[in-house]
Amino acid sequence: MFHRTLDPFPKDFLWGAASAAYQVEGAWDSDGKGPSIWDAYSQIKGNTFEETDGKVAVDHYNRYKEDVKLMKEMGLKAYRFSVAWSRILPKGEGEVNEKGLEFYENLIDELLENDIEPVLTLYHWDLPQALQDRYKGWESRQTADAFVEYCRVLFERFGKKVHYWITMNEQNVFIPLGYRWAGHPPAITDLKRMYAANHIVNLANAKAVKLFHELVPTGMIGPSFGYGPMYSYSCDPEDVLAADNGDMFNNRFWLDVYCKGKYPKFMLKQLEKNDLAFEITSEDKKTLAQGKPDFLGINYYHGGTAKQNHFETGKRSDKSFSKVDPYLMQAEKNETAPEEMMFENSSNPYLKKTEWGWEIDPVGFRITLRRVQAEYDLPVFVTENGLGAFDELIDGQVIHDPYRIDYLKKHLLEMQKAITDGVEVIGYCAWSFTDLLSWLNGYKKRYGFVYVDRNNQEEKELARIPKDSFYWYKKVIETNGTSLQEEE
Ligand code: BG6
Repeated sequence: MFHRTLDPFPKDFLWGAASAAYQVEGAWDSDGKGPSIWDAYSQIKGNTFEETDGKVAVDHYNRYKEDVKLMKEMGLKAYRFSVAWSRILPKGEGEVNEKGLEFYENLIDELLENDIEPVLTLYHWDLPQALQDRYKGWESRQTADAFVEYCRVLFERFGKKVHYWITMNEQNVFIPLGYRWAGHPPAITDLKRMYAANHIVNLANAKAVKLFHELVPTGMIGPSFGYGPMYSYSCDPEDVLAADNGDMFNNRFWLDVYCKGKYPKFMLKQLEKNDLAFEITSEDKKTLAQGKPDFLGINYYHGGTAKQNHFETGKRSDKSFSKVDPYLMQAEKNETAPEEMMFENSSNPYLKKTEWGWEIDPVGFRITLRRVQAEYDLPVFVTENGLGAFDELIDGQVIHDPYRIDYLKKHLLEMQKAITDGVEVIGYCAWSFTDLLSWLNGYKKRYGFVYVDRNNQEEKELARIPKDSFYWYKKVIETNGTSLQEEE
């Protein structure tokens, strides 16, 4: 669809940036905080990149005022952050830690005083270790109940101050990485257990949404999903069918549950045939049906390309995906994996890649937004999008990151085209505001608008230094996006 002119961004568009507790806060055991599964997992040698952990991270816990001041200087309209569950309930359930609540209350107040809308994520992967030990984490329905009680504490305390809430961050990433690929805690490699745990998270999500609607009727809540559009490798109908399977496997298996309250039938049947079915009680069906969100959070990095699977063609065609990519859950050489019968991943000859091997695909962003709008018809909040790169600090004072500006600009223009097409996008949070700890890549892979002067080995002074992209985004916000076209 070609537009001679693009619609302006909505007047109250939420220009934002994002972070997650474990990746920025540090203060891992301060003021009564209990350990999370990431605190424990990162202490085992070999689990993380160069043994990096979140003990100090970028010390946002102690420097949040300085960080909010920079947000204000940038003109940010929204800041997405997550709450560390084990700061609020050190054992995951039971006694509430007032000091933990105070920290988030202070942060929220600081944001509001500076006219920045807080966007609160309830779960960004840092499950309290106590729940892992006591209930086997997300493998137990008791963890779902504990999650709902944790949410209740936050809804009651912050329901009047925070309008936008995110339930689960990228369930489609933390579940496979935690229970299938052993790349995240609890580092399990068991497909059957993975699908069962995933169902429990779906229940937790739906129950939290339902409770939110009862306690905070004026607010808005939704999950943040890591969406990757699936392309067909060719116009061979067999490849088109494969891409449809890929979309069902990677996207609709989660999004249908969130937005339509039930699993896609084809996928359930596929799991049954592979002896991977999980228990869904009639009570569960009711619960899922009651968890419809108010908006859909979309995290967009890249999509994938599918061709007919090798069982049908009788040969393996493309070996380019040798590693596990969290956005393309493709089993490698594991012929019992359900997706092996459905499609085969291929690299896309039209797309370049980042320094970290992720495809760069701004048009895919527009496709993403249009597809989710067409299928689920909810307002969309882009809760993550950004470029991970090596940044160089020059003379201790400047960081020139034209590659990041180019990446963001292309994505924002495609988002504006999607808005012009008719997608209702309410906000956009770039990943990330400051540099932060990458779960599996330490401090080498940077995403921030603000450089944080530390590396994997040394914390140094943790000085904050705005990058060129900081000033560029500031102008985008100031002009409500019109500068995006002027700069051409
Ligand atoms: C998303 C997560 O998957 O991608 C973030 O929600 C994460 O927490 C981001 O940091 C980038 O991932 P990575 O591996 O490049 O740091």
